[in-house]
Amino acid sequence: MAHFYRLAVVSAVLGMVTAFPSIAGDKFSIVQTPYLQDLGETGVTVVWETSTPSLGWVEIAPDDGSHFYACDRPQFYDAALGTRKIGKLHKVTLTGLEPATTYRYRVISKEVLDTVAGNATFYTGHVYTSYSKPLKFKTLGNEPSEFHFTVMNDIHQDSARFSTLAAVGGIDKAAFVVFNGDMVSSMGTDTTITKQFLNYTSSFSGEKPFYMSRGNHETRGQYACTFMDYFPSPTGLPYYTFEYGDVFFIVLDSGEDKPDDDVEYYDRAEFSKYRAQEAEWLKTVVESPEFKNAAYRIVFVHMPPVAERDSWYGCLEGNRLFVPILNKAGIDLMLCGHLHKYVYHPASGEANVFPVIVNGNKTVANVYVKEKSLSVEILDLEGKKVKIHTFKK
Ligand SMILES: [Fe+2]
Repeated sequence: MAHFYRLAVVSAVLGMVTAFPSIAGDKFSIVQTPYLQDLGETGVTVVWETSTPSLGWVEIAPDDGSHFYACDRPQFYDAALGTRKIGKLHKVTLTGLEPATTYRYRVISKEVLDTVAGNATFYTGHVYTSYSKPLKFKTLGNEPSEFHFTVMNDIHQDSARFSTLAAVGGIDKAAFVVFNGDMVSSMGTDTTITKQFLNYTSSFSGEKPFYMSRGNHETRGQYACTFMDYFPSPTGLPYYTFEYGDVFFIVLDSGEDKPDDDVEYYDRAEFSKYRAQEAEWLKTVVESPEFKNAAYRIVFVHMPPVAERDSWYGCLEGNRLFVPILNKAGIDLMLCGHLHKYVYHPASGEANVFPVIVNGNKTVANVYVKEKSLSVEILDLEGKKVKIHTFKK
């Protein structure tokens, strides 16, 4: 009562009170456990979400066996323009880390009851992930030349299918995971992406990084514009690159599937211009020394950019804009989704000069990178190998 009395007095004096939902009785909790994004040699971004607005930070410790409370640990906040942010979604970038080094970490959020003019902020309880069993991540810098990663797509919010495919794919053994689009059917509410996708990843995503490739369904809904808040990338855009070991990965964003003027987009779509800008960016990527010097070059894009008799506009535009650049660049493999069925387009001198594998919505793909070959195993819901492709170097 004393706190609310003080709050009432301060509010009356200063005015401009911003009341937060916790006052209405929402239980303060972590509704999305921390997950790793944009892992690099000297940094990583940790994202988590609380039920009500809070101030959040990450504490890190070396993986040296000392107690987490042995000393003050470095703290990292989500700050902009010199001010620490308050909100439900926390996106904290850790910098200045050592390459190829394992760190322990935990996240802490302090609930905000109210803010008043002048940034005066009133806190109540706090929530945090375990200090006794902290999460761990390892910065890049010493990856093996042979590894494998797991790809899933077109889950459309189905938690049972996600869990089954994650289990049969052995997601815990993969170096990382790629979600190749349409993990939800629409970003329709401010909780959809958390409750109907990110929550499903919580068993691994605090320690194993995943990479998000935007599907056309993640461009839909009132909260589609929040996509980058959840999936920060090195470019600040849904199309970006990353490296792991000797492999260079390109993640493309194929946008929507129908023409921009289609009635279903309510005069809101502008993907033709967007994809054209993306193609200009792609031209610079394939000229980079990192791309040229890689042992393998793999592309992820949700909608297969393949021109066929019954192809829709989005695929045709990907074929017109992206494929000519990639054909000249030397791509080893492209992985797609969207069609809800397995399809294989072998390398062809007349179309894509690299193999294109479309993973279905009821299968999971494991990609094995070896010094002399790339192999793709497609597993069904029972864990049966339905297709294996091997591409010799
Ligand atoms: Fe799709």
